[in-house]
Amino acid sequence: MAQMRAQYSKKNRTLLNYTLSLIVGTVALSYGSVPLYKTICQQTGWGGQPVKAHQYAASDPSTRLTPLTDYPRLRITFSSSVSDVLPWKFTPQQREVRVHPGETALAFYTATNRSPDDIIGVATYSVTPAQVAPYFSKIQCFCFEEQRLAAGETVDMPVFFYIDPEFVKDVNMKGIETITLNYTFFKAKYDRAGHLTPIPMPM
Ligand SMILES: *[C@@H]1O[C@H](CO)[C@@H](O)[C@H](O)[C@H]1NC(C)=O
Repeated sequence: MAQMRAQYSKKNRTLLNYTLSLIVGTVALSYGSVPLYKTICQQTGWGGQPVKAHQYAASDPSTRLTPLTDYPRLRITFSSSVSDVLPWKFTPQQREVRVHPGETALAFYTATNRSPDDIIGVATYSVTPAQVAPYFSKIQCFCFEEQRLAAGETVDMPVFFYIDPEFVKDVNMKGIETITLNYTFFKAKYDRAGHLTPIPMPM
């Protein structure tokens, strides 16, 4: 972790930014910046796409972010894939993290643009098992925004998340100990109207 942070602090998008984002914006911050990913997920109907946190999230984040330390830690595993037309390498930096419900955690992916051109990518994600998706809350995520990588550039991409403590009250979550977060990167470009569009549109 220390090493990851050291690497990460070299980047412009510092950990401090994300920490400040947490304090200043809490969950509300993430809402405004997800239209593209939402568009993609709605169009594709992929299972397991996390939905918005409940309304009361913004009104009282402090009670929601109390880690339920009596509850066994959940194992969060990470996977990734890249669209065929995107010449990026994109992999999780850690195999897994273990968190109590309500405990925040920071995970990183690494992306490298292997092409000689600058490229914009957008990431979508899914959660397995799919019924956990409503409880998988992201405070900050590289998937909320487009990512522009210069030719040959490598960046560390953070995702700051927690499992909603309400998870433990849902009988449908009984027996779930492992949750997988899977990101897929697509190539994107601006069309003539100035909208960011994935290439090609995912089926
Ligand atoms: C991740 O999601 C993509 C797109 O839905 C899929 O092609 C890929 O197989 C998934 N990977 C894993 C490990 O589930």
